[in-house]
Amino acid sequence: MEKIVIRGGKPLNGSVVISGMKNAALGIIFGCLLVKDKITLEDLPMISDVKLSLEILRRMGAEVAENADGSVVIDCTNAVGGISPCDLVKKMRASYYLLGAELGRFGRAKVGRSGGCDFGTRPIDQHIKGFEALGGVVTLSDDYIRIEAENGIRGSELFFDVITVGGTINMLLAAVLAEGTTVIENAAKEPHIVDVANFLNTCGAVITGAGTDTIKIKGVKELHGCTYAIVPDMIEAGTYMIAAAATRGCLRIENVIPKHLESITAKLVEMGVSVDEFDDAIVVSAPDPLRHINLKTLPYPGYPTDMQPQICALLSISEGTSHLIEGVIENRFRYVEELRRLGASIEVNGKTATINGVSGLHGARVRAVDLRAGAAMVIAGLASDGVTEIEDIHHIERGYNDIVGKLKKVGADIEKVEIQTL
Ligand code: EPZ
Repeated sequence: MEKIVIRGGKPLNGSVVISGMKNAALGIIFGCLLVKDKITLEDLPMISDVKLSLEILRRMGAEVAENADGSVVIDCTNAVGGISPCDLVKKMRASYYLLGAELGRFGRAKVGRSGGCDFGTRPIDQHIKGFEALGGVVTLSDDYIRIEAENGIRGSELFFDVITVGGTINMLLAAVLAEGTTVIENAAKEPHIVDVANFLNTCGAVITGAGTDTIKIKGVKELHGCTYAIVPDMIEAGTYMIAAAATRGCLRIENVIPKHLESITAKLVEMGVSVDEFDDAIVVSAPDPLRHINLKTLPYPGYPTDMQPQICALLSISEGTSHLIEGVIENRFRYVEELRRLGASIEVNGKTATINGVSGLHGARVRAVDLRAGAAMVIAGLASDGVTEIEDIHHIERGYNDIVGKLKKVGADIEKVEIQTL
């Protein structure tokens, strides 16, 4: 077991390169199951959720090989449905993409219950509504979710009652090989939805409207192999933007799509942070002090819920009182207790956190309670005076490619240390 140890108070200066987007990569990796051909994926982030997804496909009979340049070749020609390993599937939520992919390829699916960050109940009723609209009969047991489509998958119209990233991606996977056309209304519009749709279209699918709230999928007979590069990770980029601001440093963040960061940039500029945009890079720096703001997380293009803990850490050391409303996830403030241990002054009442900015934070021992909460602990540790130790860092490694190495390169005093067990 390892922990991250940070000696805070050092401004970050220099440049970091952003990796491929976790939440696009996971949908695309499981989407390879739909293709009986070789697919080469470039810019895959080498994070534990990606490695886990590749191992799940291997255990299902896919051939997965890593090239010297870091690209990965996946061939699911001989993959078998219904045998995904439950012990691996339950380690992350994105495993539920196996449902759409198996249903799309085999006309049936049998997948163990998925896991992931603990945000309270994380229902999949909309996914089920979509599978049933396509002709699937869904059976839930304690251990498995099964779907049978005896008459095959037929295109349909579907209106999502809730804007759901996972539900939208699962529908893309289930419908691309369907008989006929599927229309999804009230679809999620995140850049990772667009990337999964672009990947499937590169394999020969006919998907239009991704990135809007209405997506049309015209079923095709089969898909073919391709080479595809994953879109840069907007949440990783946003995390480094906030780390630069929190340490009053100056970071050039490379391999980004500024358009994807617009809502994050807008809120940081409102706080007094300066953000200069270039074609595929941004430069972030911040004066002292930063101003308080009010913010509500929303589906894209609103401020992302996956950037909520990170900006909370920044607001903790900004002047005045800020109000942060979590508008997407049921319960995403579990990390506040850990921020308080670093000296933050935050009150949580239901979906609203009231943050009273303090002049500075002090080092402490904290835990990463989930992936983005862990990123918030890193940001707070970098900005704190003294030493911060972060445990349960496996959460952070699910979604950040070499965060310690990237931060070290821009001046952070940070290292991973083995926890001495008695
Ligand atoms: C995806 O989770 C991301 N995970 C999450 O990122 C992200 O927080 C979330 O989208 C929102 O952007 C992956 O992409 C692997 P949702 P997902 O379905 O698909 C409710 C990270 O940090 N809902 O868009 O599970 C649900 O309870 C992770 O990278 C239903 O009610 O999110 C939630 O309140 C954490 N019924 C809201 O919709 C459903 O059938 C949004 O959930 C599905 C969802």
